[in-house]
Amino acid sequence: MRWFSQDVLPSPNIWYHQRDYEVENRAQDVDGEIWRVLRGAGDWTGRDVLDLGCGDGFHLPRFARDARSVLGVEPHPPLARDAARRVRDLANVRVRKGRAQRLPVDDASVDVVHARTAYFFGPGCEPGLREADRVLRPGGTILIVDLDVTSEPYGGWMRADLPDYDPPAVERFFAAQGFGCRRVTTRWQFADPAAAESVLKIEFSARVAQRAIAEVRRMNPGAGQVTVPVGYRVHSRVKPTGLVLPGHSAASPGSSSASPRIE
Ligand SMILES: C[S@@+](CC[C@H](N)C(=O)[O-])C[C@H]1O[C@@H](n2cnc3c(N)ncnc32)[C@H](O)[C@@H]1O
Repeated sequence: MRWFSQDVLPSPNIWYHQRDYEVENRAQDVDGEIWRVLRGAGDWTGRDVLDLGCGDGFHLPRFARDARSVLGVEPHPPLARDAARRVRDLANVRVRKGRAQRLPVDDASVDVVHARTAYFFGPGCEPGLREADRVLRPGGTILIVDLDVTSEPYGGWMRADLPDYDPPAVERFFAAQGFGCRRVTTRWQFADPAAAESVLKIEFSARVAQRAIAEVRRMNPGAGQVTVPVGYRVHSRVKPTGLVLPGHSAASPGSSSASPRIE
């Protein structure tokens, strides 16, 4: 029997290879493109942020720079403990053990819910979307960051390992839930080929990792810094500030499926 709850999605990369995942997090988005899009979709300056599935808390200090408060929620106990250790000197950050489907958070108590490559992967995440709506204040924003499986070359490696993954179906799901979607092109940058290869090995099967390593070597001849283009999707939805008529979705103002509201 698996020791983890069915509600917790195993994340072999960060659960079993935490040191390499830290290398990955440091390499990601070196130009800050995701942060720029996130801030445009739901600025957290002076506000209360919830980072859902925060892992070992890599993104918490970044939010803490401008937010009033930051709460990291993570179901995997060793990671929750390490996240708490990472932020122990930051007065405006706390970490709690919990999961997306049942947040240890009061109703209408946060302004921004952020989840990065955690839990919200498409159909099946409805319980977490309902919980996010419960804990958001009216006018608050849910921001979901995930890899763009249609973006080359990284997306091609993902598709090779996930032949049943259906990117259009995932995007239709989020659109039907009232989310807007922005695609973001980023660069992952590693100090050297060995660092890049250690990360590719925790993200892909051995066969696909070998292919990815060969392609990355071709893109980055030499022994110096290694750059890998990686695409992301940022889904965002604003919780309405007024009543939503029955039968209409609570779409964000920027999304395509506008919902009538009574202010
Ligand atoms: C790939 S990691 C990303 C961690 C972190 N967001 C980051 O970017 O460094 C996915 C995380 O989601 C967590 N997770 C798994 N099931 C979850 C659930 N039901 N609710 C919230 N988080 C969950 C995992 O334990 C893991 O820490």
